[in-house]
Amino acid sequence: MTESISLVEAFQQTKYQIAGNGKRNIQNLKEAFEQIDGQRESDMYGNGKIIETFQEKMAAYLGKESAVFIPSGTMAQQIALRIWCDEKGIKKVAYHPLSHLEIHEESGLKELHHIETVLLGEVAGLIGLEDIRNLDQEIACLLLELPQREIGGQLPDYKTIEEISEYCKTNGIRLHLDGARLFEILPYYQKSAEEVCSLFDSVYISFYKGIGGIAGAILAGDNDFTIQSKVWKRRHGGDLISLYPYIISANYYFDKRISKMEQYYENAIELAAFFNSCPFIETKPAVPVSNMFHVHISQSKAKLEVLFKEIYYNTGIGLTSYLKETSQSSVSFEVSVGDQYHSIPKDKLQSVFQLLQDKLK
Ligand SMILES: Cc1ncc(COP(=O)(O)O)c(C=O)c1O
Repeated sequence: MTESISLVEAFQQTKYQIAGNGKRNIQNLKEAFEQIDGQRESDMYGNGKIIETFQEKMAAYLGKESAVFIPSGTMAQQIALRIWCDEKGIKKVAYHPLSHLEIHEESGLKELHHIETVLLGEVAGLIGLEDIRNLDQEIACLLLELPQREIGGQLPDYKTIEEISEYCKTNGIRLHLDGARLFEILPYYQKSAEEVCSLFDSVYISFYKGIGGIAGAILAGDNDFTIQSKVWKRRHGGDLISLYPYIISANYYFDKRISKMEQYYENAIELAAFFNSCPFIETKPAVPVSNMFHVHISQSKAKLEVLFKEIYYNTGIGLTSYLKETSQSSVSFEVSVGDQYHSIPKDKLQSVFQLLQDKLK
C-alpha cells in the first residue's frame, strides 16, 4: 500500500504529527496579520514604531539595555563576534565543534570577517569550565549554544554557566549566547530569560524555532554594542527597507507561544519516554531538558522506512519526515515538540508506540 511513496510523502499524508507547530505555509503569515490595521506605518531602514517597540520589548524581556532586530541569526551572530573581536583587537573566538557557525554557515565568520575559531570541548559533549581554563591562546569571545542542538539539545547544569561567566569576566573574555532556543530551556532551569542573559554580554534569540514565526532574530546587549550592531547590520545588507512582515509575525507568535514552553518541555519528556520504551531506540538526552531531543534507532534505514510508512498509514500519526543514516545499521532524527503534540489523542499515541514496539521486536 505504501511501497510507491516516499517517507516524506507518507508523513505529509498523516492526520497528526508528533513534532512542531504545524505546516510552515502562508497561513502562518496571514494569521499573524489578521488583526493588524492596514493603515499602520511600515518601518523604514531600522526606524519606526513597529521595529523600535519590538526591540524595546525584547530588550526588556532579556534584561538588556537595548536590542536590534536582524533578519537572521546567522547575520546576528557574525555581527556579535565581529564586534567583540574588534573591541579586543584579537580576531579569535571559541565555540563548540558542532556550533551552527561551524557547520551550517559556509564559514561565513572566517570568509567575511577573517575571524579564526577555536573548537572547544568534545564533539559529543558540552563545553566545560576546564576546556576554557585549558585554552592555550587568547580569544576575544566565547560563544555558548544553549541547548547544544546537534547533540540532541543537551544543557550544562546552571552552576557551570555561572562559573564560565565568572571566569570569562575575570579574564577579559566576552561571553555570547546562541539562544536560538533560549525560550525552550527556561522551564528546565526554572530561570527567567533575564536571569540567564545576565550571565552573557550579548544574546541572540530566534523567532521561528519554538516560537514558530516566519524568520528573524534579536541581538541584544548594552547600548554601545547595539549601536555597533546596527552599523554592521547595514554593512551585512540586513537593513531591509521594511522588516515588518517578520517583526509583526515574530511579535504575534511570541505572544501566542511564550507561555507554552513549559508544556512543550513536559510533552517532550513524555514523548521521549514513549520512544525509549521501544527496543533498539534511545533518545539523546535520555530525559529531555528542553522541547527537543534526538531519536537514535539501531536498525537499517531501508528497514525502518518501510516500517514507519506502514505505521503512518495504519495510525495516521507521523513520527518523522526523514531518517538520517548514521551507519549501515542505525539512523537518527530530531524531534522538537510544539503545539501539534498536544492535539493527538492519548490513546492514539499509546497505540502508535505499541505498534512500533511490536514491529521492532
Ligand atoms: C543554534 C542555532 N544558531 C543559529 C541559527 C541561525 O539562525 P538563522 O536560520 O536565523 O540564520 C540556527 C538556525 O537553525 C540555530 O539552530
